[in-house]
Amino acid sequence: MTQFQFSYEVYPKADLFADFQKLIDAAEKATDNAYAPYSNFLVGAAILLEGDIVVTGSNQENAAYPSGLCAERTAIYYAGAQYPNLPIKAITFAAKRRRDGIFLAVAPCGACRQAILEYESKQENPIIQVIPRGDNNFALIPSIAALLPFSFDKASL
Ligand code: THU
Repeated sequence: MTQFQFSYEVYPKADLFADFQKLIDAAEKATDNAYAPYSNFLVGAAILLEGDIVVTGSNQENAAYPSGLCAERTAIYYAGAQYPNLPIKAITFAAKRRRDGIFLAVAPCGACRQAILEYESKQENPIIQVIPRGDNNFALIPSIAALLPFSFDKASL
């Protein structure tokens, strides 16, 4: 039998490295820039690049619903467009409902995992996923590939 396995640890925010704590703060702040008049689900993403550069994104919706884009892809495409040669070290996200503003335990959707995987394969180095698990706890997952087994990437072409 073939098995896929990955392991991860969950830490309270205060126990994370300072640069990850700052990244989480940036993702939470980015939720305020979400344009989400249809779902009222406000998402922010923050990406840590080599050289301690942080880029953020938020979800951008559209009256033609499928034309909108998730926060993670907004952020990673911005990073790819602005800093094409800087390796991506880590990504995190934050999400809250407009009505109560409480940060939720979320994980990236499948399409965003696919987009993040593209950059991980391009740079041939893992991108750490810092994933909110609720109550200010965060899972550290060592790569996006771990979250997308049996994936399709350039090696498949
Ligand atoms: N959304 C994200 O921004 N990231 C995800 O990983 C899942 C969902 C956005 C898309 C849409 O604007 C809203 O959240 C509700 O699905």
